Amino acid sequence: MEILFNMNVTPIYPASSPQYIAQATTILKQEEVIVFPTETVYGLGGDATSDIAVAKIYALKNRPTFNPLIIHVATLAAAEKLAMFSADAKKLAKLFWPGPLTLVLPRQPDCPVSLLACAGQSTIALRIPKHPAALELIRLFGKPIAAPSANKSGKISPTQAIDVAQDFEGQIPFILDGGACLIGLESTIIDLSTSQPTILRQGGITQEQLEAVIPLSSLNSSLIKAPGMMKSHYAPTLPVRLDVTHINAGEGLLAFGPVPQKLKQAKLIYNLSEAGNLTEAAANFFKGLRLLDQPDQLQQIAVMSIPHCGLGRAINDRLQRAAAERN
Ligand code: TXA
Ligand code: MG
Repeated sequence: MEILFNMNVTPIYPASSPQYIAQATTILKQEEVIVFPTETVYGLGGDATSDIAVAKIYALKNRPTFNPLIIHVATLAAAEKLAMFSADAKKLAKLFWPGPLTLVLPRQPDCPVSLLACAGQSTIALRIPKHPAALELIRLFGKPIAAPSANKSGKISPTQAIDVAQDFEGQIPFILDGGACLIGLESTIIDLSTSQPTILRQGGITQEQLEAVIPLSSLNSSLIKAPGMMKSHYAPTLPVRLDVTHINAGEGLLAFGPVPQKLKQAKLIYNLSEAGNLTEAAANFFKGLRLLDQPDQLQQIAVMSIPHCGLGRAINDRLQRAAAERN
């Protein structure tokens, strides 16, 4: 069956409706890409075993092909067909899956996932997402789904269906709307393919949660990069200034906790969490950055400092990349 799309209509469909999940799997079987919700951010998904579908993901995102994709599965048994699990890997999977943790593991010799999706490496990044619609989609499709965040390479990640529709206007035939992402930051990536487990990207599972379970490499994880962790990433159109203690003319403020009197002069203020709660701030982070990214109204985004612990590590990682000199 050929599905025809009218690209003039915003192609957003409620993920709560089984008929739309079924329609999404039909499109995946045609080696086309769709957008689906996860608990972290929205994903741009394609059949992970199809070089054609994977190539379409790279092209749509404008992503360099040396930057591998995360492969999403619905069960630990399915994951074990794709990668070799060490005892530590099993322990972490059992504790944190489904959830915002991605494990980098050696590929099984007969792993059917496209080598292009893994950027030709002998490792594979796997996760089981927690959003019920994502799980249902993967189960119904019956194959692993390759999915990077559904944003153009280097730009702000999407935490609502409408973000994706705006960023990819007319380019994506089908967006499953599963509401606002509960975690709001990407998964934590941990490399277990070497003898020293190392965090490659801070994310929705905190370093503290991981350290309570397995010893982590003492190497400074901020120096070690997943192949795609560019210095500039998550970049709004406007420049970003961090740890502000005063406001310059034309600045909007991304606030955290109570706002000191002198920062209230900002033209526009978005508070990530008035109560200073890092979980709430994480969930609001990309939304807040998008709301303040208004070049016709503002000249710069000023950001209050955010504690460097728990989910604050992942928020600060993204802030530093948003503020970095652009590639
Ligand atoms: O929360 C998430 O992880 C979201 C949702 C959609 O699941 N996905 C996501 O994908 O953030 P993406 O493509 O935006 O980020 C994937 C990161 C990249 O930095 C990439 O370099 C790294 O994962 N990665 C993928 N495979 C890898 C591998 N084999 N070794 C090391 N890093 C890998
Ligand atoms: Mg991304």
